Amino acid sequence: MRKVTESYWLGTAPGPRHPALTEDVEADAAVIGAGMAGLSTAYELARAGLRVVVLEAGRVAGGVTGCTTAKLTAQHTLVYDRLRRTRGPEGARLYARSQSEAIEHAAALVAESGIACEWETRDAYTYVRDPERVAEVRAEARAARAAGLDASFTTETGLPFPVAGAVRVTGQAQFHPVKYLRALTEDLIARGGRVYEGTRVVGLDEGGGSGPCRLTTESGRTVTARDVVVATHYPVFDRALLFARLHPRRELVVAGPLGDGPDPEGMYITPEENTRSVRTAPYGEDGRLLVVTGEHFTPGTGDPGAGFDGLAAWAEQHFPGVALDHAWATQDNDSTDTVPLVGPLHPGARHTYVATGFGGWGLSGGIMAGLLLTALITGGDSPWRELYDPRRLKSVVREAPSLLKTQAEVARHFVGDRLKPPAALDDLAPGDGALVRAGDHRLAVHRDDEGALHAVSARCTHLGCLVSFNRAERAWECPCHGSRFDVDGRVLQGPAVRPLERRDIGSAD
Ligand SMILES: Cc1cc2nc3c(=O)[nH]c(=O)nc-3n(C[C@H](O)[C@H](O)[C@H](O)COP(=O)(O)OP(=O)(O)OC[C@H]3O[C@@H](n4cnc5c(N)ncnc54)[C@H](O)[C@@H]3O)c2cc1C
Ligand code: FES
Repeated sequence: MRKVTESYWLGTAPGPRHPALTEDVEADAAVIGAGMAGLSTAYELARAGLRVVVLEAGRVAGGVTGCTTAKLTAQHTLVYDRLRRTRGPEGARLYARSQSEAIEHAAALVAESGIACEWETRDAYTYVRDPERVAEVRAEARAARAAGLDASFTTETGLPFPVAGAVRVTGQAQFHPVKYLRALTEDLIARGGRVYEGTRVVGLDEGGGSGPCRLTTESGRTVTARDVVVATHYPVFDRALLFARLHPRRELVVAGPLGDGPDPEGMYITPEENTRSVRTAPYGEDGRLLVVTGEHFTPGTGDPGAGFDGLAAWAEQHFPGVALDHAWATQDNDSTDTVPLVGPLHPGARHTYVATGFGGWGLSGGIMAGLLLTALITGGDSPWRELYDPRRLKSVVREAPSLLKTQAEVARHFVGDRLKPPAALDDLAPGDGALVRAGDHRLAVHRDDEGALHAVSARCTHLGCLVSFNRAERAWECPCHGSRFDVDGRVLQGPAVRPLERRDIGSAD
């Protein structure tokens, strides 16, 4: 099985560590989460003159943003034909305009501030190889063009295999996301912003709606701020049942120097083959790095070991000179109507906001969220406020089938996983993990390479579903809303904010 590594982006942009919060502080706005959405918002708020505090549980850009394919494009696979049908031509136009403006905004920042983030302009392609799907791609090309993008149907691409059809959108971009966010963080701090790493937020008091809001961190420190933005990827505070409208999707990435083979130049994605997404990036003196993404699955429902092997085999088959030396995974949340949820945290919210549900496109989406939330917080408006408003009710009705399916899956896990027979501790091989019985409860037990057992409660601290072991990444994952924990129960990814309780293995059978 392929060894899982750190993401290439995180490994090639080490940055300064920022301190943890060790005192109670006040600010105009507090942003929870230092990924693309949180930092873009914090940066725009600081530019607007607000005193901003960013609270990050891990490291800047160390979440999903540091592990992506890092394309900046308004072409989001096959979104426009669907938007045309579900949100009308105007909805599709607003979506295209908002994503394009976000990319143009980032391009301007990069140029103005001289941000060294390997920015490259590229065309984006969504392709299919199955002739039966060509009509779908033609319809997408028409819809994307009608939405205002420079989109066309083509069968010519830079890929090393023929395609049956593709939508090409010109003038998009790709970059190094961690280098970009580290530069933004420096500028944010220069503007008086404060960034705290290793600071997990566990409590939100909205101050009765008239503010100020009060955040509490795991270490008991507080941040008082008029406005709070929850940009934790999956929202860790959810007062509008947003979790019922989000579905987590984990996906694999392999990368390595391309070698002597031709660079496909553009940025490619196909919905076929359980997704394949391809781009290259600058590598060394004058080489190129190949990045290939695909093989998605719901976290907590399987082991991605074979997926990594399959994805690598695909990359090596089509790019024979590639030397894949990186393999990692990350996850994003699909919203049930495929449009991100960016705006007030709940129907009664006056000073709390959320940005989530980016559906695999949260780099342009995160920049867009920063612009939109800054407009709302500073008393302005935005043409795309309604499109992304998490309180959109009409769309909840429209998305009911998808919403019910998501909830049915959660219910199936909540009940069904408890009925599965527990594993026997003696059968647990080094490197593996399984749920074993301890009285009336289940323990999540991992045996490490040295044979030592690590036991934690199997009950996810979010809403109580049972976790499942991901052997390739050595993590416990919850199938209900995608929380992830390390083998000793520490939170790797929310919505959970509390660790799985450590347990004494003596009590298990
Ligand atoms: C395989 C893959 C490839 C992708 N490729 C692309 C692409 O090419 N282009 C594109 O546009 N999008 C892409 N995406 C999607 C995009 O990466 C995400 O939508 C985006 O990075 C999400 O940004 P974020 O800021 O919401 O989340 P994150 O980057 O995860 O940031 C959230 C932060 O919040 C912190 N946090 C969580 N809980 C707490 C807490 N309680 N207290 C404090 N901090 C907390 C986390 O540590 C994290 O750093 C891809 C997604 C995947 C899965
Ligand atoms: S993530 Fe919601 S119950 Fe585990």
